[in-house]
Amino acid sequence: MGWVRESEVVRPVERWGESETYERYVGRWSPHVARPFLRWLGPPLGARWVDVGAGTGVLTATILEVAAPASVLAVEPEEGFRAYAEHRLPDPRVRVVDGVAERLPVEDGGADAVVSGVVLNFLADQGATLREMRRAAVGGAVVAVYVWDYTGGLTMTQPFWEAAVAVDPEAAELDGSRRFTNTRREALAEAFRAAGLGAVETRAIEVRQRYEGFDDYWLPFLGGEGPAPAYVATLDEATRARLREAPRARLPAQPDGSIALTASAWAVRGIAG
Ligand SMILES: C[S@@+](CC[C@H](N)C(=O)[O-])C[C@H]1O[C@@H](n2cnc3c(N)ncnc32)[C@H](O)[C@@H]1O
Repeated sequence: MGWVRESEVVRPVERWGESETYERYVGRWSPHVARPFLRWLGPPLGARWVDVGAGTGVLTATILEVAAPASVLAVEPEEGFRAYAEHRLPDPRVRVVDGVAERLPVEDGGADAVVSGVVLNFLADQGATLREMRRAAVGGAVVAVYVWDYTGGLTMTQPFWEAAVAVDPEAAELDGSRRFTNTRREALAEAFRAAGLGAVETRAIEVRQRYEGFDDYWLPFLGGEGPAPAYVATLDEATRARLREAPRARLPAQPDGSIALTASAWAVRGIAG
């Protein structure tokens, strides 16, 4: 796990781009955060939006639902995700384009709202990304992100990592709660201010998710998408089998076998000067 440098842009090594697998793993959580996030922004109607690291298009779809946008530019480096988002959102107001957060394909001040969901923590240079989001925003426009609170309440993957460390102590350094210390509320707010954004505010968004049963929770970890599944893919079969049993006891199963988990995200917003 780590980072590779492609020209000036740093991309995470964890694999993204297999859309169906992503949807079953963490994509299922995204709409539950996107809606309260956009409601909190009090979105301007008829605006030109940019969705940075749009993935399978969840946030873009929610902008279409709640903000009556003039346009949404969905910027995403992974071809597989772009194809999925295009297929999912056959709307003339949406344009899905290849691009990265550190160099947005938007002219200075070309957007009325610049947003991003669950991307900032994966980027090596948060400051460069936030400055770039500010550059793309017209004066007075909102720039806003949300990221999972990896250091606080990420019960979605925490049972997995606790189990993984019990089976393989070296997994500890891959655990998002250790890796993504850049998702602390104050650090995020400070990064916004350092990027020159004004009127910075933060809020917590807590969401719940119901899994049909243990397989519904566990099988997406075998898909290779994202940090935890990428780790599982490196294990031999025997270790994987031991790991499979370990999170079961840590998950709060209901009498009908279903599992209810919660997760917290931090939302941060600022205004471009
Ligand atoms: C966890 S997914 C979030 C996707 C989507 N925004 C959502 O809420 O479901 C992280 C996304 O960041 C994208 N990504 C990775 N590196 C990036 C970069 N340098 N610039 C923009 N997006 C990037 C990945 O391809 C992936 O789509």
